[in-house]
Amino acid sequence: MSEKIGLYIHIPFCQNRCSYCDFYKEQSQNVEDEYIDFLIREALFYKEENKIEIDTIYFGGGTPSLLSPEQLSKLFEGLQEIFFFL
Ligand SMILES: C[S@@+](CC[C@H](N)C(=O)[O-])C[C@H]1O[C@@H](n2cnc3c(N)ncnc32)[C@H](O)[C@@H]1O
Ligand code: SF4
Repeated sequence: MSEKIGLYIHIPFCQNRCSYCDFYKEQSQNVEDEYIDFLIREALFYKEENKIEIDTIYFGGGTPSLLSPEQLSKLFEGLQEIFFFL
């Protein structure tokens, strides 16, 4: 039986930078599309013949809600090529 894992995806962009915040983030500068491409490229390192099973996915930030529905779709489609979502 293969191991199931949880996926954490960090979206390190915010409209403004709150002074008290210790989380890694940058001011949003329209690089989200490029970041999604790099996330998928990084995820490709984990591609296996039998896809790793993902039972939870968590988005943190930064501000994940800055991503558009189209950007989220692109991310999920890329990840579905690599992982198997239960
Ligand atoms: C990092 S933010 C990410 C989600 C979103 N950007 C927001 O501000 O709600 C998640 C939570 O962490 C809190 N937070 C930020 N910096 C913190 C710190 N240094 N210690 C504890 N909580 C912090 C924020 O107030 C927010 O409620
Ligand atoms: S992650 Fe949240 S708390 Fe931190 S700078 Fe962004 S909006 Fe502010």
